[in-house]
Amino acid sequence: METHIESHLVEKRVFKPPKDFQRRARIKSLAQYQKMYRESIRQPDKFWRREAKELTWHKPWKRVLEWKAPFAKWFVGGQLNISENCLDRHLTGPRRNKAALLWEGEPGEKRTLTYQQLHREVCRFGNVLKRNNIRKGDRVIIYLPTIPEAAIAMLACARIGAVHSVVFGGFSADSIRDRIADSGAIALITADGSYRRGTIVPLKKNVDEALQSGTSVKRVIVYKRAGNEIHMKEGRDVWWHRELEYVDANCPPVWLDSEHPLYILYTSGSTGKPKGILHTTGGYLLGIYCTMKYVFDVRDEDIYWCTADVGWVTGHSYVVYGPLANGGTTLMYEGAPNWPEPDRFWKIIEEHGVTILYTAPTAIRAFIRWGDAWVKKHDLSSLRLLGSVGEPINPEAWMWYRKTIGGGRCPIVDTWWQTETGAIMITPMPGAIPTKPGSATLPFFGVDPAVVNEVGDEVGPNIGGKLILRKPWPSMLRTIYGDKERYKKQYWSEFKGSYLTGDGARRDKDGYFWIVGRIDDVLNVAGHRLGTSEIESALVAHDAVAEAAVVGRADDLKGQAVVAFVTLKGHANLTPRLKTELRDFVGVHIGAIAKPDEVRFAEALPKTRSGKIMRRLLKEIASGQSVTGDTTTLEDFSVLGRLSAEE
Ligand code: WT7
Repeated sequence: METHIESHLVEKRVFKPPKDFQRRARIKSLAQYQKMYRESIRQPDKFWRREAKELTWHKPWKRVLEWKAPFAKWFVGGQLNISENCLDRHLTGPRRNKAALLWEGEPGEKRTLTYQQLHREVCRFGNVLKRNNIRKGDRVIIYLPTIPEAAIAMLACARIGAVHSVVFGGFSADSIRDRIADSGAIALITADGSYRRGTIVPLKKNVDEALQSGTSVKRVIVYKRAGNEIHMKEGRDVWWHRELEYVDANCPPVWLDSEHPLYILYTSGSTGKPKGILHTTGGYLLGIYCTMKYVFDVRDEDIYWCTADVGWVTGHSYVVYGPLANGGTTLMYEGAPNWPEPDRFWKIIEEHGVTILYTAPTAIRAFIRWGDAWVKKHDLSSLRLLGSVGEPINPEAWMWYRKTIGGGRCPIVDTWWQTETGAIMITPMPGAIPTKPGSATLPFFGVDPAVVNEVGDEVGPNIGGKLILRKPWPSMLRTIYGDKERYKKQYWSEFKGSYLTGDGARRDKDGYFWIVGRIDDVLNVAGHRLGTSEIESALVAHDAVAEAAVVGRADDLKGQAVVAFVTLKGHANLTPRLKTELRDFVGVHIGAIAKPDEVRFAEALPKTRSGKIMRRLLKEIASGQSVTGDTTTLEDFSVLGRLSAEE
């Protein structure tokens, strides 16, 4: 029986970095990338020492890395403060009056904060935290929409050495309660409400519910955002704007050990209990600083927009800390991409002159579905670089992104990483590495990935296996908060000395990495292991298909049968022949083995608010069961009913 993950999707298109992009880029050629990469692997101390010198340190480090596997300490003995690196150090030159943060609310308000202004707000709020007895090392939950105050709260915590844990604004009271219990947070920062598709999400009400049963939280600071009516509990709740009246703007950054915890971010594990991923100060800052610099090649004149919500790791690393550490201008948008119309993103890009756009494949597929006419209404010629993150991007979606959004002139950086890795791990350098649609290409500096089989041996070209990382890296998670054993077991026990990513992948003959999805998403059809993402990509390549999700269903004969859930593009007709046509289409593009046994058309797929398709739910629907278990992260509940009702 076959044990490796087979790959049948062959991608022949290659796109070289555009000449003018290349000329201006920090890394200008494949040879330059390879030279730096070699150094980063052979002499990591030398490489990281040089990069770390670009940051502001209060006390120099004694050792670059202390590695007692699987526990790492980076820049041992060094002291610094992240908020100082993101703010204060830009105030001594022309960046003082530059826009640090541009913001648009869903209803349409606009705000701009210069570095000087953002620094002032962070200092004032730092003093508010202190006034409310929040001290170095205390855990603080942040439950806010994507508004400037989210960045201000994060940076203010970092400034005084408090550890923030941002809880995504789409999560329920239960999720807040679990995270408070696990982190032992003593304070919570929230807003009265937030806007989503024109309605108000009652954030404070969710908080009240979470705190009902008695928790470690003693203080709730409430920012007035939506003006909806809320209850303020005397002795526990205070208004953000009222608190500001009692403080000044003098709040020096506390010097913190390089390994001082910066934040805990919860991510779902396969067992259901969320894992508190712990990131610390010096190494994390270096990781996001360097990737922002080399992967997005960010310049002073750029207007950079990462569309992620601050509640996800992408929002931490590439909305807030990465761009600000580089003195960039970061744009934040509060709401949905199709509010009030499906062209909101393109309108924002045109109005602000966005030059770098970083978004997710799920969004890209939605745009394809909504039709090109929405894009064509706007001038997107300010764009010079595009990024993708969150899941494998289907080659056809990649091609559309390149042509329709990038006008054929912008390189695409498909960036593979995880909450756990803190920063981008596998990605093209836009001025150096030729891209292939659907591949995250080659490792970032200092990253040593490999594709291995069950016993840990590296497999040959185009053979699928498990993706591991064989060296520690500066922005790696340090532990699962409060659970060292789970950290060891989950990530470091299967292959000695290597980090297990949980993703399946293959490497092609050029050494390019192709991520085929989570190991749990791999199907076994008649003894052939197939990555669901390849079948999905084949389906999406069909002209009528907007989005596809493939799951397995137990099958007596084949082990697993392939079930495809498909949504159609706006213009496509659901003809009686379409099912057969799609099955044959997959047969032609991948092979008969991958032909879906069942094709189900749906109006929408069940997704988390971060855009990940909830395959567990689809699996249950595919096997005719009723949906059970946790659905708190599901964005749109009505999808479930419609899916089950559909044949
Ligand atoms: C998982 C991590 C990284 C920030 C957002 C998600 C998948 C992520 C890619 C990519 C293929 C990708 C992986 C990974 N993933 N980026 N460019 N190509 N797959 O963070 O929630 O921790 O999820 O997302 O499966 O393991 P996360």
